[in-house]
Amino acid sequence: MVAVTVSAPAKLFILGEHAVVYDGQAIVTAVDARLSVTIRAEQADRPQLSIDALDVGLQNWQRDITTVAQQGQFEGESRFIESCVARFHQFHPLDHSLYIRTQSHFARDLGLGSSSATVAATLFALAQLFAPNLSLADIFDMGLDAIRAVQKLGSGADLAAALYGGTLYYINREPRHVYPLEIDELPMVAVYSGQKAGTVSYVQQVRVLRDTYPQVIDPIIQSMLEIVDSGRQAIQGQNWQALGTLMNVQHGLLHALGVDTAALSEVIFLARQAQALGAKLSGAGGGDCAIVLHASGMEKRLRAALHKIGRDILPYGLHADGVRID
Ligand code: MEV
Repeated sequence: MVAVTVSAPAKLFILGEHAVVYDGQAIVTAVDARLSVTIRAEQADRPQLSIDALDVGLQNWQRDITTVAQQGQFEGESRFIESCVARFHQFHPLDHSLYIRTQSHFARDLGLGSSSATVAATLFALAQLFAPNLSLADIFDMGLDAIRAVQKLGSGADLAAALYGGTLYYINREPRHVYPLEIDELPMVAVYSGQKAGTVSYVQQVRVLRDTYPQVIDPIIQSMLEIVDSGRQAIQGQNWQALGTLMNVQHGLLHALGVDTAALSEVIFLARQAQALGAKLSGAGGGDCAIVLHASGMEKRLRAALHKIGRDILPYGLHADGVRID
């Protein structure tokens, strides 16, 4: 019997969500809210996959690994783990039964990327046990395959954040590139809007809008990608004023794509009234979180404003470590 426990961070988009899907680029940061995966492996003639993921209601879930590996489609709460095991089995045929236990240290309905953290942690743990020479880039490629086998889409930006950690400029074009941004701090906080959103349906909705009105939507996406590049320079130069302005414009463009909500906008306008340098939705939209770039000394004012609508700053730091053995 061999065993390992690893953890991967959650993520937030700083700039470039949706635009990154169209062969674009984005800036993402790892969030210090972690998801742990423990894998115990035991040699077996007929290897089984067992999963306990109590925070999504899975207890003693079991299936033959050969059955999992032959599946074309993955459904239910076990889908991302099954997809990882199937993908890993293609690379390294498994002759061990796997007992996988996951534990999320953040609420999964915050929209902080529990799927990408699950995929990053599961594949990293499998690599530790069976293929310790795999690089993060190899694990990233497998992880992106595993995510796409489940949801048929995904830029990989959130997976990059979960694997590499820190704050990244990520390019979603072959060959994919991940550039860590060398910064000491990122003066931002996240605020949950109170609504849970489904990424896939919002990505599809934007795609339909773009297919229907390419002459209108393509220039918006192009502007969003320009903002990502300018934002990268602003972050590297610690020019927070400029970054805030760019975040505000990006939020306006996301609103134009139809993924903003009244609850997100309420948080964002309150933050701006409390003199935030910038505020925008983060991720697919339709709910989940907003991110706020704060000026020094404004946190108390921001908290007071948020309390009036029953919201608060999430207690997680940004620019966190990537996947690691715990
Ligand atoms: C979702 O967290 C971010 C999107 O850009 C989708 C993706 O990057 O795969 C909307």
